[in-house]
Amino acid sequence: MHNLKHSPLVEAPEFIVIDPHKAMMASSLDKIRVQGGTQLNGEIPISGAKNAALKHLCAAMLTGDPIQFTNMPVGLKDIQTLAALMKEMGVEMTLRSDGVMFVQAKDIHSTEAPYDLVRRMRASVLVMGPLLGRFGEATVSLPGGCSIGTRPIDLHLDGFRAMGADITLEEGYVKATAPAGGLHGAKILFPKVSVGATENVMMAATLAKGETVLMNAAREPEIIDQGEALIKMGAKISGLGTSEIRIEGVPHLHGMTHDIIPDRIETGTFMIGVALTGGTVTLKHTRTDFLTSLIGPLQQAGVTIEESGEDVIVHRNGKPLVGTDIMTEPYPGFATDLQAQFMTMLTMCEGAGMVTETIFENRFMHVPELQRMGADITVQGNSAIVRGVKKLKGAEVMATDLRASVSLILAGLVAEGETTVDRIYHLDRGYENLVDKLEACGAKVFRESSRQAEE
Ligand code: EPZ
Repeated sequence: MHNLKHSPLVEAPEFIVIDPHKAMMASSLDKIRVQGGTQLNGEIPISGAKNAALKHLCAAMLTGDPIQFTNMPVGLKDIQTLAALMKEMGVEMTLRSDGVMFVQAKDIHSTEAPYDLVRRMRASVLVMGPLLGRFGEATVSLPGGCSIGTRPIDLHLDGFRAMGADITLEEGYVKATAPAGGLHGAKILFPKVSVGATENVMMAATLAKGETVLMNAAREPEIIDQGEALIKMGAKISGLGTSEIRIEGVPHLHGMTHDIIPDRIETGTFMIGVALTGGTVTLKHTRTDFLTSLIGPLQQAGVTIEESGEDVIVHRNGKPLVGTDIMTEPYPGFATDLQAQFMTMLTMCEGAGMVTETIFENRFMHVPELQRMGADITVQGNSAIVRGVKKLKGAEVMATDLRASVSLILAGLVAEGETTVDRIYHLDRGYENLVDKLEACGAKVFRESSRQAEE
């Protein structure tokens, strides 16, 4: 219900027709033009968390009962892609523009996630845990590498194996089959902290026989949100938010209603935007407790952040920003999903700052693009030294992942002249109404559709 109450961008709930193939084709050639030099001042409604919402949708397949979500970021292409995949499997769903979504997985007629959809969105592998847990089988195309790294799913598969599943690989597809009596509980020690593996195995374990203990589990707020929703469905889970999660399997789960947590990465992105441009922006319906690892460095740099009920007020006066170092780590460490945006901020700081990326091996794709705008950045291995410059200059840039793309939009907000960001398709995956939200705060941002460009 939050979007209805808070979002001035949504007037009346409309029903959204899921056709991700068409939508992606239409937006893949779009560009965003940014005219730099204006402050951000105003209000921005924060959407529901993409990385929680995707897993909630998958978890809805653990029961045949109806599930209702509120604060679902239905405008995101990733949500629409996953919804299309689940629809193909036989899941009934209705998406409304006010963020209300109804899902019912009563009659599933396929337990296969095809290559075409998994390749568009790696999170599709998260259907595996629920399908395996409830139906005893799942066939999912191997996602392959992606622009930010090789990103294997071995930890997911090892977890399922420990619970008794047989895993085979045929023609690029992973087939997981539960033993005759269904999955059984197991003690699983993840050799590396993985958000996706923790979630996938946790979902499968809710319907397994006996207790599953996940050690060295991820502690992200999205996992807590997912666990809390599963508990509402009847799952027995303890230890959420710690590195040891215990799940006592139950025979069935049931329907429920769940309000999705606000998107901490979107919140952090706009905080960094205000840090860069200066001004005062109220981020509506969000929280600061998820973002302590960002807020510390932002305050050190000279930004004021205050919580006011369900809102967060971000402010920077005219004083120059001060450079500071960050290193990405699993939660509660600095989020890798905010690294590119923070680096953009450092390019305009007084002094220098060091950025170290420890989660993904190839997450500096924004660096050459920022350099084209005049940034002074030196990369050595997984670290980058960013020396502040007096100004960035607008340029035509492009990035191959979501957070790198938004970091270039942020750079455009403070660059001299015009910046054009190509391949907007990445942004559409993870930022709802980005252009409208920035425009409402005074930014000069314009989306050029591929059709307009042809005319
Ligand atoms: C989630 O990806 C997020 N995606 C990512 O958000 C985020 O960057 C990442 O967690 C880290 O916070 C979603 O939630 C949909 P991981 P995930 O498993 O689950 C390695 C965004 O911009 N690994 O925690 O795929 C892996 O290669 C994105 O919204 C294995 O080696 O991340 C990586 O180096 C992109 N084997 C590290 O672990 C495995 O089986 C952490 O990955 C699984 C992961």
